Amino acid sequence: MLTIVAKRVNLCMKPALSTPSTPIIIEHLQFLAEAEMLATQLGSQVLDTRPSSGVALSLGMNGLCLLDCDAPRDEPLRVDFSGGALGFRQRAGFRRDELLARAVGVKGNPLPRVLDATAGLGRDAFMLASLGCEVTLCERHPVVHALLADGLRRATEQGLAALSRMRLCAEDAAEHLFDPASLGAYDVIVLDPMFPERSKSALVKKPMRLFHVLVGVDEDAGVLLDCALSRALRRVVVKRPLHAEYLAGRVPTLDYRGKAVRFDVYVTKPPKNPLTISPFNEKRV
Ligand SMILES: C[S@@+](CC[C@H](N)C(=O)[O-])C[C@H]1O[C@@H](n2cnc3c(N)ncnc32)[C@H](O)[C@@H]1O
Repeated sequence: MLTIVAKRVNLCMKPALSTPSTPIIIEHLQFLAEAEMLATQLGSQVLDTRPSSGVALSLGMNGLCLLDCDAPRDEPLRVDFSGGALGFRQRAGFRRDELLARAVGVKGNPLPRVLDATAGLGRDAFMLASLGCEVTLCERHPVVHALLADGLRRATEQGLAALSRMRLCAEDAAEHLFDPASLGAYDVIVLDPMFPERSKSALVKKPMRLFHVLVGVDEDAGVLLDCALSRALRRVVVKRPLHAEYLAGRVPTLDYRGKAVRFDVYVTKPPKNPLTISPFNEKRV
């Protein structure tokens, strides 16, 4: 059963600095009560018409999505685990030899217990949970958390098996890690902080540009890395653009390189058999 922990929501969530407050528009009056509850959580308001500019959430038959009101024809941003490219990959079956799975060390039994400290739209966490890992997701941005919680709820209703292994927390991962309940809880901690968007790149799809506008850059990612290094029982995995500098200048133990991204792996505790961290094709730094 999917668990959504909305612990200390008002205290722990990062205020949406880049957006004053994100209004919610409803497709039909039947969504009013739900929209009002969400508006209270977000400190925003429910509108019956789309604003002429800025970003807004929209609640309707297909759940919650984020709209760019300056570009009304653009595709909205929605968390959808069963549709689009992610759904296609899920139906085809995720593979343990994918870069993230190798960086996390998804093999053997039991599989690593993972904290996705920067959950975002939940794609990486969903892949790891689909491969059998228990994954806790932390998302501190209130609007992103709302979108993700909505996507997880719909996927649970659709009966996607991975959802039983996913638990969403509405809090800052650094705070989560210093909660005594988290001690010894995670074998692997995954970080994928926001980095400055590649300017005008056609590779960045419009819904993702909207995501960048909403969240901005995670300037405190180095602090989160320090927290993660002090708590992960086995390793910390940091997702970076392929040619980006190391996060906070910290040199990883090894890395896995794809065409556009790199996973830097920081081994926090040497395993008894060193071969277990030397999968085929890895590149030692
Ligand atoms: C690049 S996105 C992550 C995308 C994600 N890996 C995916 O597969 O969809 C980064 C997200 O991490 C969140 N974040 C950054 N630092 C955080 C922290 N310390 N605690 C919780 N969430 C954090 C941001 O709000 C943002 O939504």
